[in-house]
Amino acid sequence: MPELASRAHQQNIIPVIHQAITEAGIKKEDLDAVAFTRGPGLLGSLLVGTSFSKAFAMGLNIPLIEVNHMQAHILAHFAQLHNQEKTVPQFPFLCLTVSGGHTQIVLVKDHFDMEVVGQTIDDAAGETFDKAAKIMGLPYPGGPVIDKLAQQGNPDKFKFPEPNMKGFDYSFSGLKTSFLYFLRDNLKTDPEFIEKNKADLSASLQKTIIKILLKKLKLAAKNFDTQEIAIAGGVSANSELRQAMETARSEWGWQTYIPQFQFTTDNAAMIAVTGYFKFLKGEFIGQDAVPYARGGM
Ligand code: KG4
Ligand code: ZN
Repeated sequence: MPELASRAHQQNIIPVIHQAITEAGIKKEDLDAVAFTRGPGLLGSLLVGTSFSKAFAMGLNIPLIEVNHMQAHILAHFAQLHNQEKTVPQFPFLCLTVSGGHTQIVLVKDHFDMEVVGQTIDDAAGETFDKAAKIMGLPYPGGPVIDKLAQQGNPDKFKFPEPNMKGFDYSFSGLKTSFLYFLRDNLKTDPEFIEKNKADLSASLQKTIIKILLKKLKLAAKNFDTQEIAIAGGVSANSELRQAMETARSEWGWQTYIPQFQFTTDNAAMIAVTGYFKFLKGEFIGQDAVPYARGGM
């Protein structure tokens, strides 16, 4: 609900930033720049963040940095927590960026040189989880709910069709529709069908989504001749996808990079990391910046 989202942003933005600054043990005068998400996303929410950031940067007389949301999901891999050594992906690498609005295979040649080599032509993977959950009467966001239910279900109980797309592109709308029709048909003979099969339906659907995602990723890895493979975005929190990446490491010899859980779904740290790299390059934006709902990569 875009309107509720923007109201929630308006209500929370100052208290959240105040809390972040307090918990970091700094003063706002210690800040060197303000990075904000310019897009893609829900325009009403982006406007709140953009307007706040402009005013905040102007008040502190520090530069303003625009960040692309999808690029930030990928650069979350470069977030280093205190006292923690971690290996980061080596350029060039492939990143499967899977969220509620996007499903992309990105060839990452540098922090800022990224090429989308494949993407969904209709629904995103996260959207498929969310819509399937809605059909089953489960709460939003559906991804984590289906993930949890799937852990008790049989992934081979039901079969759903996989798309036949050329190249590295995806399509999920056929799967969503067949899931809907399958439930509708079964509900005719058994009104309790969903209730009785929630776990098996979740496990079978999830297995299909992950299989579709991995098939194209494997093809892209072969085509671009790289074994450096990362996943990012909200759906990279999915336990089966994370497990599949571990399996790919041992079976296909991939170097896999799975983001820490707190950097999977939308978070401010990934915007800060991207802002940091742009700050080093001196890439700032003026007070006339406007957000964008789509595109940018
Ligand atoms: O990146 P994100 O936080 O927001 C967007 O940029 O869209 O991704 C949100 C998406 C939602 O569709 C949500 O259902 C999905 O990520 N998601 C998951 C899981 N956790 C979040 N999908 C599958 N399994 C999960 N555990
Ligand atoms: Zn996101």
